[in-house]
Amino acid sequence: MTTHQFDVVVVGAGGAGLMAGLYASRGAKTAVISKLYPTRSHTGAAQGGISAALGNSEEDNPEWHTYDSVKGSDYLGDQDAIEFMCYEAPQAVLELEHMGLPFDRTPEGRISQRPFGGHTNNVTGKPVRRACHAADRTGHMILQTLYQQCLKNNVNFFDEFQVLDLLIVGGKAAGVVAVDLATGELHVFQAKAIIFATGGHGRIFEVTSNAYAYTGDGAAMFLRRGLPLEDMEFFQFHPTGIYKLGILITEGVRGDGGVLINGKGERFMPNYAPKVKDLASRDVVSRAIYTEIREGRGVNGSNYVYLDVRPETVNKFAALDGRTNPDGSPYIVTGEQILQKLPDIIDFCRVYLGVDPVTQMMPIQPTAHYTMGGIPTNKFGEVVIDDKNTVFPGLYAAGECACVSVHGGNRLGTNSLLDLVVFGKHAGLKAAEYAQQAGFVDLPGSPTAEAEAQFDRLRNGSGSENGFDIANEMKKVMFDLVGIYRSEAGMKEAIQKVAELKERYRKVRVSDTGKIFNTELLNMWELGNMLDIAEVVATSALNRQESRGGHSREDFPKRDDQNWLKHTLVWKQDGKLKIGYKPVTITRYQPKERTY
Ligand code: FUM
Repeated sequence: MTTHQFDVVVVGAGGAGLMAGLYASRGAKTAVISKLYPTRSHTGAAQGGISAALGNSEEDNPEWHTYDSVKGSDYLGDQDAIEFMCYEAPQAVLELEHMGLPFDRTPEGRISQRPFGGHTNNVTGKPVRRACHAADRTGHMILQTLYQQCLKNNVNFFDEFQVLDLLIVGGKAAGVVAVDLATGELHVFQAKAIIFATGGHGRIFEVTSNAYAYTGDGAAMFLRRGLPLEDMEFFQFHPTGIYKLGILITEGVRGDGGVLINGKGERFMPNYAPKVKDLASRDVVSRAIYTEIREGRGVNGSNYVYLDVRPETVNKFAALDGRTNPDGSPYIVTGEQILQKLPDIIDFCRVYLGVDPVTQMMPIQPTAHYTMGGIPTNKFGEVVIDDKNTVFPGLYAAGECACVSVHGGNRLGTNSLLDLVVFGKHAGLKAAEYAQQAGFVDLPGSPTAEAEAQFDRLRNGSGSENGFDIANEMKKVMFDLVGIYRSEAGMKEAIQKVAELKERYRKVRVSDTGKIFNTELLNMWELGNMLDIAEVVATSALNRQESRGGHSREDFPKRDDQNWLKHTLVWKQDGKLKIGYKPVTITRYQPKERTY
């Protein structure tokens, strides 16, 4: 066992982890530990843009951005945090630009912006161009840019190290335990401040846009250490994933004029969102697609519809909608421009479907995309542990694993990249500030005991169960019964099934006894995290008896502010889940009915 000492340790090297690492390293000796090589992190899959009310091609302002995000969250987002994020957004994007991020440009040389779901001009109610983009590779560019900055600032990286356990001593963060995947050796990292930036848990669902690494490791570690998770019932289904595969087709396609078409060849979104149509918020569009499918208007009687970005379709509907360019001229696109704006999704469709989006329609279905709940934090990234927002000394979280809460019941597209840049930065600053005045907490006598026990269980199980079968059954039941539409009976069935799967998981035995890159052992350890998280998601969803944002119950179809305008907190105590609540912070916008 090797022991390291750093003022600040960051777990995870996606956008939030890199931003946190960069800012922490300016004031403290900092390490970033990642189970992946940093530039392979899931931030790289974010396509369409990062939101900021720059107003580069038409009027916009941070207050409209704030209101849209509050409304998009179905009023569950904490308004102080949302306002903080939206007002920091322009500076955050300009900082990325100054770091060298190659944004697309307007003809005048400004950062180019495209419309996205739920981004509106608050006066006219029409879509506004707020998503700053680098083609459809915005997340990829953020990742590369921040990694370069971290290297320049001498951040210490431990790549392909899987963190297994969080060490807490005397009510304070003491360190983390990790395994070096290349050697199988355990390492202990003693730290004054620890920032979790471990991403989400979309891999608990069968059809997902999420990377294989998105197994909820950070949230599961918190749960095991008796710390709460917040609003875990809220999971976002992105309307447009490649049929069956789930790979993301950016909302930027609709931002650039693409429309959804059902099996009868009709554009259906005007029936659900007359003002903004295909650019309604994601929960609204995903439900609309499901309704079309359930009412028999899927393509060929199947559970998919088409996304159509062929120039002739875009131009026809742009003319009908009266869409114009910023200079007032009619909005008209060519095949060449589509290729230029959306190169990656065109490649994905050609490679995975044999479909060319410039000349053919894309078969799509909603895909599990984004974890809105997670580790509760305040707007400075400090982990909070109860309904009074009591700060846990030395612990921080940022990005998708955290719940600030700026997304509430439903996140607006492009607010995830903004979230990770803004709150990654503040978590890094706060952690460094804390580390400058705090001492190291003594490590426990056997710091690796819990991590070793977890691996031992997987090496010594009876072997009568196959972990990959368990994973597939969990993913299916979660997608079918705790997905876009939910009901009491379905969720109870899912909870029962997950409990059975957890029992079967105890009998799994890893057959690879080697130490070097034992990915079977790692996958099985991740499966344990996913089962824990699936149980929390389904239990929190069953508990919330209303429909709000991405949580849509057939038995409670309406939002119920009287009883449910509150955050859920879940703890695991003595092997059982305990549920509590926390008030929503409302500053300027009282809840009202959402229309688009
Ligand atoms: O559609 C997209 O490009 C996804 C963006 C996001 O989730 O923010």
